[in-house]
Amino acid sequence: MQQIETIAEMKSACRATARAGKSLGLVPTMGALHEGHLSLVRASKSQCDLTAVSIFVNPLQFGPTEDLDNYPRTLERDTALLRELGVDSVFIPQVQEMYRPGAQTYVDVSDLSSKLDGGSRPGHFRGVSTVVCKLFEIVRPDRAFFGQKDAAQIALLRKMVRDLDMDVEIVVCPIVREPDGLAMSSRNAYLNAEQRQQALVLSRSLLEVKAAVEAGERDVGMLAEIGRRVIASEPRAKLDYLAIVDPDTLDPIDKVSQGTLIAVAVWLGTTRLIDNILL
Ligand code: PAJ
Repeated sequence: MQQIETIAEMKSACRATARAGKSLGLVPTMGALHEGHLSLVRASKSQCDLTAVSIFVNPLQFGPTEDLDNYPRTLERDTALLRELGVDSVFIPQVQEMYRPGAQTYVDVSDLSSKLDGGSRPGHFRGVSTVVCKLFEIVRPDRAFFGQKDAAQIALLRKMVRDLDMDVEIVVCPIVREPDGLAMSSRNAYLNAEQRQQALVLSRSLLEVKAAVEAGERDVGMLAEIGRRVIASEPRAKLDYLAIVDPDTLDPIDKVSQGTLIAVAVWLGTTRLIDNILL
């Protein structure tokens, strides 16, 4: 497994892959890898000749009061896991390598970037679209693999690829969960034992909304109320949003239908967790 730190070296390795006529998959990550990330790597391995993984804790997508400094960094463990899975190259740039002093170009998917998590985290999605655009240009993958876990991120990146005519296929992989239903996340590491239990309120709220839909409820107001009530049943959980929206535009809808996205974000102490289901 090649471990690459510079853009120039990563470009030349990836261009060589393309010249050899091999398909290339990219799995962008911020490290602290868990089974959710590894499921993307496995998907890429099964669909592409070669797989590259990037590990970069992207400062541009963290707000000034967010957890950039505390974000878990477990590089040695991460690279060992990726080597075991048979990844071909890992791109691990330093911040100064990705953002040269004086850089002033950003990618902003204007409307989408302020919806769902973008509403609660101003500037977050501008950071995500900018870094993913850069990674796409450095690697020029045939396919890039993302988790359904970050549903708004998927909508944003699909729109970016369409709007900028990028030659990359976005592949979305299902949410990987702990046995009790908690969606895996690098941020779960911040939870103490009590919060870890309280965190089950996210998946529970989604399941109750889904059950109500299956029982015939279609009214979005009613369904949102059912979900919010579940969150409120856990006094330590502070609801950020519970949204029932179109999965592509992230706009609210009146009546649910197949494919409707139900997304939730909740604070437990200083940790913000997200989860979602597609009907
Ligand atoms: P990160 O949070 O490290 O996630 C990397 C990828 O793993 C994302 O596509 C995310 O949706 C996916 N993922 C995380 N938890 C998952 C789970 N439980 N099941 C399935 N997939 C899961 O998302 C980012 O990093 C960054 O925003 C990034 C795209 C790398 C840009 O900096």
